Amino acid sequence: MTITQPGYVGKLAVLYDGHGDISPFQQLAERLAVPLRNSSEAGFDQHEAFFLSWRDGCLKLLDKELLKKGGMAVEIGPRQGEQRSWPAPKDGALAKALGRKTKTVVDATTGWGQDSLHIFRMGYELLCMERSPLMAVLLADGFKRLAQEEWMQRLQLEPPRLLVGNAVELLAGLPEPPDCIYLDPMFPPKRKKSALAKKSMVVLRDLLGDDEDKAGLFAAAMQATGKRVVVKSPDYAEPLGGKPSDSFHGKLLRYDVFLKN
Ligand SMILES: C[S@@+](CC[C@H](N)C(=O)[O-])C[C@H]1O[C@@H](n2cnc3c(N)ncnc32)[C@H](O)[C@@H]1O
Repeated sequence: MTITQPGYVGKLAVLYDGHGDISPFQQLAERLAVPLRNSSEAGFDQHEAFFLSWRDGCLKLLDKELLKKGGMAVEIGPRQGEQRSWPAPKDGALAKALGRKTKTVVDATTGWGQDSLHIFRMGYELLCMERSPLMAVLLADGFKRLAQEEWMQRLQLEPPRLLVGNAVELLAGLPEPPDCIYLDPMFPPKRKKSALAKKSMVVLRDLLGDDEDKAGLFAAAMQATGKRVVVKSPDYAEPLGGKPSDSFHGKLLRYDVFLKN
């Protein structure tokens, strides 16, 4: 497995507010190899730009602006406009791109898990991959909360499985090719500061940087898939794998479909 220095080193700390058991905070800091700060100590100084802490039962990522307000966690609820039943109807651009006959999906770039959870709620069999240890701990916390949801327990559903590591290597080790591999790597923004970019994605870019190696990931996905690769791109970006077989358009974005011969 390739070991690279995570992009958040030097920018991130775990934050303990002086209440309750400190050991989970210590373990988290050790696991991510980042400092542990105690905000209740006199002389607490915000050395880092980002913090991880548990608030309201969720593991949250905070920046200076969010320190007093709340923070960002993996959102497990349905997105606006999404039906609350399970499985939710397979309609919309994402479902069309995944394909009518698709049953198994690998999301190789899970990030905040918003696309993954949408795919999961539509009833596909889903496996998630994520290389950032920071996003992996946030996702694991989100999936744990998902498992405790009343509807998940009633329907006896398990949350998606998460593999932590570089998808280029993880995809090569899959025992069975999935019907579809879904990719949503980080593209450079069109403008320096896009007013439309979601805060969670701006933070992700600040902490992890752009995914410069996405061409290699695309090649690995084409190799590992059974039937198709779907790439989500901003509408201004060139398709990642040359001319796609099909494209489905959403708001300011595109799902490019590449079929395996
Ligand atoms: C733009 S975000 C994905 C957002 C996600 N679709 C969502 O709905 O929240 C890209 C994520 O892919 C991850 N990533 C990029 N290349 C990867 C690779 N080769 N292997 C595993 N994860 C990768 C990054 O660490 C980042 O968290």
